[in-house]
Amino acid sequence: MIPYGRQSIEADDIDAVVRSLKSDWLTQGPELEKFEDALAQQCNASFSVACNSGTAALHMAYAAAGIGPGDLVVVPANTFLATANAAIYLGAEVRFCDVDPDTGLMTPDTLRDALDDRVRAVIPVHFAGQACDVAAIKELVCDHCPRATIIEDACHAIGGVYADGSPIGLPNYASMIAFSFHPVKHVAAGEGGAVTTDCALLKERLAQFRCHGMTKAKDQLRRPDEGSWYYEMHSPGFNYRIPEAACALASSQLAKLSESVAKRRLIVERYLDQLDGLPHLSLPPRSHLNTSAWHLFCLHIDFHALGLSRTDVMELLRTDGIGTQVHYFPVSLQPFYQDRYGHQDAQFPGAMAHYQRALSIPLFPAMTDTDVDRVIASIRKTLAGDSTVMRRVA
Ligand SMILES: Cc1ncc(COP(=O)(O)O)c(C=O)c1O
Repeated sequence: MIPYGRQSIEADDIDAVVRSLKSDWLTQGPELEKFEDALAQQCNASFSVACNSGTAALHMAYAAAGIGPGDLVVVPANTFLATANAAIYLGAEVRFCDVDPDTGLMTPDTLRDALDDRVRAVIPVHFAGQACDVAAIKELVCDHCPRATIIEDACHAIGGVYADGSPIGLPNYASMIAFSFHPVKHVAAGEGGAVTTDCALLKERLAQFRCHGMTKAKDQLRRPDEGSWYYEMHSPGFNYRIPEAACALASSQLAKLSESVAKRRLIVERYLDQLDGLPHLSLPPRSHLNTSAWHLFCLHIDFHALGLSRTDVMELLRTDGIGTQVHYFPVSLQPFYQDRYGHQDAQFPGAMAHYQRALSIPLFPAMTDTDVDRVIASIRKTLAGDSTVMRRVA
């Protein structure tokens, strides 16, 4: 079975983890610092604060931005649950905005109507690894709600670039950018996440929130003379610390990021060449080839015109040993959010149109040429309406 995504763990990754396990530190040691430095360097950011998931990274970033009860956080309907849920954790409310039906991205046009004075944060999600137009989003947000903070959800996008060529994660358009290091992502830590920022105060808040809200900073202590062991907590945080072994793995993977993104791009190029022109199929824009980090390769199939349901197509591909996944059912229609806000099925037509056609096919650096050929052949056969295929479905 070729899955839709898979980590690549090589001998040097294993050596790095083993070295960290043999060291004196299992958590909060030198591997954390090394990984945070390397990530900040990758993103040209002044700081990065690592944690144990992308979800934790978003939660930390929203908390550091001061999001709290009654605040509104604008999130695109096409994303993973965590982008929205992190606002709920803080007692804030989520306002969904629509996305472009072809790219699945928040754009200034899909965002505009969601902005007003109550909005405290806007979260562009670099879906599938493609960069949102954050320069235009920033301009719009500054005009309509200058109090709002922009926090990018770049959980899909490390290794990609913005339209100006700078690396995703550079805190130029947003004050913070959140990443995930889950196994299907470019940098696998097992579980892991991080936030980049250029602001020393935000960095301090992120680090405190990661560790129960604890501080030892003398200038913050109510009782500064208790001794060097002493810490205080002025606002509760969580335990979002990431183990040293995960940092060692993440550093080793990060060192190979450009190589692994290049491999993804080669696979994408073959998909774009060899799936082009098939009936009922739209491919991601070729113009994204060298800018997207290509976390996902998301096909758009007109299942109705094809005469097969998505479930049929997934099943047919599965029979050929090809794994697929769907990114995403609109989060606005998850029962929790639909009940909370009374969303109608047709309320975010761009997200719905994206969802109805979406199918992510295998894309990961360890795919061999034979794997890619198998995926292409199976999709060609399925979309060509091969009669044997139809019989199997029937
Ligand atoms: C867009 C997006 N945001 C946030 C997350 C949460 O990351 P994690 O699984 O590391 O908590 C994910 C995970 O897949 C994601 O896809």
